Amino acid sequence: MIRIAVPASRSYEVLIAPGLLARLGALCREVCPSQRAMLVTDSRVAPLYLQKAASSLASAGFCVSTFVFPVGEKNKNGATYLRLLNALARCGLTRSDLLLALGGGVTGDLCGFAAATYMRGIPLVQLPTTLLACVDASVGGKTAIDLAAGKNLAGAFYQPRLVLCDTSLLATLPAGVFACGCAEMIKCAMLGGPALLEAMQAAPIRNRPPEELISACVALKRDLVVQDEFDTGVRRLLNLGHTFGHALERLSGYRMPHGQAVAAGMAIITRAAVRKGICPQECMDALGTLLAQNGLQARAGFRAQALFEAALLDKKRAGDTITLVVPTGIGRCELLEQPVQALCAWAHAGLDA
Ligand code: GLY
Repeated sequence: MIRIAVPASRSYEVLIAPGLLARLGALCREVCPSQRAMLVTDSRVAPLYLQKAASSLASAGFCVSTFVFPVGEKNKNGATYLRLLNALARCGLTRSDLLLALGGGVTGDLCGFAAATYMRGIPLVQLPTTLLACVDASVGGKTAIDLAAGKNLAGAFYQPRLVLCDTSLLATLPAGVFACGCAEMIKCAMLGGPALLEAMQAAPIRNRPPEELISACVALKRDLVVQDEFDTGVRRLLNLGHTFGHALERLSGYRMPHGQAVAAGMAIITRAAVRKGICPQECMDALGTLLAQNGLQARAGFRAQALFEAALLDKKRAGDTITLVVPTGIGRCELLEQPVQALCAWAHAGLDA
């Protein structure tokens, strides 16, 4: 088993290995002496893993309740959040009990926000069931729900007690869902130095034992989170591809999956950086290879003006400026503060003529 320590405002470990779901109860016991546990998942994951997770918790002495919500980002909203808080109260969970997120990024974000706010904070364990959630959403303590005005507009930083990446759950993910996780891993390779970038290029991610690459990505994210837990400095490097990625998601009416949008967003910003002479062509070549190898599109499918206008709505914008994450070398990116109007030129440079 690979163990990655995250010494943030609350220290915890990310465990990476096959077979962790079956050991869930015993592993939770090590970090939480509580009586009750609420297991939160969505209607897609529930038939696959809920029973197994509940039995494991029960055999470790937890009194288990469950909360299943309808699958989909559209349900990561205030109504589901309030239903969950009310379910916690009805089941009598106290501040020493345990909330457990079993699922992808939507479940982790929703359950994490409930854990951060129910009784001003109760222990949280994340058991991600998608590759994307293993390498990104479950680590680092960002939690949120969506508002009508946009994604993740209400949230909190709230670190879990434990993250369990059971790699045996990844084998059955549909190709498109797996590819979305690959996009976030490729993002890590673009930030994590030449060795990680080269290692990732050796073969498609799906054809390799997942533990080593997942742990490299989690360790990279850990290093950034520990330096900048509240996302005002270097942690923002993890937004590579996200300014134009979020714009693409918005333009597609949220039909384009997040990972695919980030993949195209990385291609846009990297191509633009090459055209502006900030980044060597070999970066774009390496990115193109990685995207193609892992079933991801570099093409955006929207025009530069539309992309620019959608990017102006980015919530990471600060007044009239926005901080872009720009590749500047093999496995290296930098933060570049730009006037928001400059996004127009970046969008034009980043799309094929
Ligand atoms: N998903 C980017 C971050 O956690 O900062």
